[in-house]
Amino acid sequence: MEINLRYFWVVILLWFVLRSDNGDHMCVEASHKVYPELQSIQAEIVSPLYRTAYHFQPPKNWINDPNGPMYYNGIYHLFYQYNPYGSAWGNIVWAHSISFDMINWIQLNPAIYPSKPFDVNGCWSGSATILPGNKPVILYTGIDGQKRQVQNIALPNNLSDPYLREWTKPDFNPLIVPTIDQNVTAFRDPTTAWLGQDGYWRVLVGNKRKHRGMAALYKSRDFKHWWKVQHPLHSSADTGMWECPDFYPVALQGEFGLETSVNDVGIKHVLKVSLDNTRYEYYTVGKYFADKDQYVPDNTSADNAMGLRYDYGNFYASKTFFDAGKNRRILWGWANESDTPDDSTAKGWAGIQTIPRKVWLDESGKQLLQWPINEIETLRGKSVQLGTVHLAKGGLVEVKPITAAQADVEVTFHINNLDKAEPFDPTWVDPQQLCGQKGATVQGGFGPFGLLTLASKNLEEYTSVFFRVYKAKDKHMVLMCSDQSSSSLRPEVYKPSFGGFVDVDLTKGMISLRSLIDHSVVESFGAGGKTCITSRVYPSLATNEDAHLFAFNNGTEAVEILKLRAWNMHRPRMN
Ligand code: FRU
Repeated sequence: MEINLRYFWVVILLWFVLRSDNGDHMCVEASHKVYPELQSIQAEIVSPLYRTAYHFQPPKNWINDPNGPMYYNGIYHLFYQYNPYGSAWGNIVWAHSISFDMINWIQLNPAIYPSKPFDVNGCWSGSATILPGNKPVILYTGIDGQKRQVQNIALPNNLSDPYLREWTKPDFNPLIVPTIDQNVTAFRDPTTAWLGQDGYWRVLVGNKRKHRGMAALYKSRDFKHWWKVQHPLHSSADTGMWECPDFYPVALQGEFGLETSVNDVGIKHVLKVSLDNTRYEYYTVGKYFADKDQYVPDNTSADNAMGLRYDYGNFYASKTFFDAGKNRRILWGWANESDTPDDSTAKGWAGIQTIPRKVWLDESGKQLLQWPINEIETLRGKSVQLGTVHLAKGGLVEVKPITAAQADVEVTFHINNLDKAEPFDPTWVDPQQLCGQKGATVQGGFGPFGLLTLASKNLEEYTSVFFRVYKAKDKHMVLMCSDQSSSSLRPEVYKPSFGGFVDVDLTKGMISLRSLIDHSVVESFGAGGKTCITSRVYPSLATNEDAHLFAFNNGTEAVEILKLRAWNMHRPRMN
């Protein structure tokens, strides 16, 4: 009897310890800054000033993560986190748009919104899976009556509706609830599920234990009954909560994409996570051992916040899907505002989705490449072209005539005699910090050279996107920056200088840059998509017809523009 009583107390104690380890249980732990006073202020006027022309946006209000992107019977679906009542995060539903080309969009009614005990407090991020027999389903995170994060399923009401307008959440939800050892407020964002050769479905849910970020793994035979695998698919110390995990196969060769369940020879896997701690993402390339339910990164890049990123700028909560129509994998990411919450309320909108990008494995096998989908080129209008231009130290050329606030520009630079590159200091491990110290006006050897986008006529304002080349011990190091520090005369907006290293072979002396410029966003692709950086900027002078575009060189060594072409971009149908 005494032993039984002691056992009872030990169990009770253990229960308390486990619970308290996991922190707060009873409030909706939103990783977004919450401004209750701004959540439900409906915009009377939507200000056109910084609205993008060809980036995905609804007509008004707040958006965040892209959700459940999919291609189904010839139509692209994009769902996204949306506040129907205001321009700050809150009141979240799954808004829904469809498209035939991912460029022109038709807005539909929200597909999923809080209405049941298993999602009364919110319908958060998730993914779509196309089940055998061509049946799409959605898995999403519901915030239930106890403010727990649980995983639910939603099914289309009518498969013969080509737009899949209405979705039902069956009463057998939730499918997955947190176990006693899981933090109920850090358990969300189910991935697209994949089917193993053993006939079991698998899905990941973002999670953490203390400071260890992890992708909890669940299995099912029938997609309805799920159980937790003992160990996560993968985890990493001190990375904090893993939001929006994404896990998919990539081919070792070629640019085509693979359906999420493919697990053959000749492939690798990618695991991407969004780190709530830093609000940046990172990914690793590695091997998936299906029989052991384990993913092991190749160890060719860091498995933490210092790792590879899809994008070194304003880009978060991204998600890929397999586009069976064109056999490619497409990446969507959310680019938040970098002006203030009050600005968003005044504008009547906040947040955009980046231009969808094709992703595939670089031939090195160590990183991904990304490129805006070809369809974006259908928006190209009038263009200007420069032939060879010699840019000596201090060189500056204006690219005109062009609608520089709404343009697509591609340029290839040639650099000669790399011996003259400045030495690289091996303690420079953080490219963003380096870009912060070495802005567009800080003279180097080779570089800074690149573009001044969204520039005012007399250069009071510009967002510079540029390269610097350094000589390291046995190779060259290329730094790419997207520097917002001079982007606006408005003091209150956030103006970081984003940066990433570019792992590019300079033996031919060539490096390319493409920027998609769209009023308050500059999305840049260095070296054919090896390094990408998105900046959100709010010029006060360089707006609309008053925006200019320049190419520049502020290095001591001359560089050449081999070719440069810039196009005016048309406005698609946008919701
Ligand atoms: C990422 C995220 C997700 C969550 C959603 C809520 O931005 O915090 O983890 O599901 O946004 O809107």
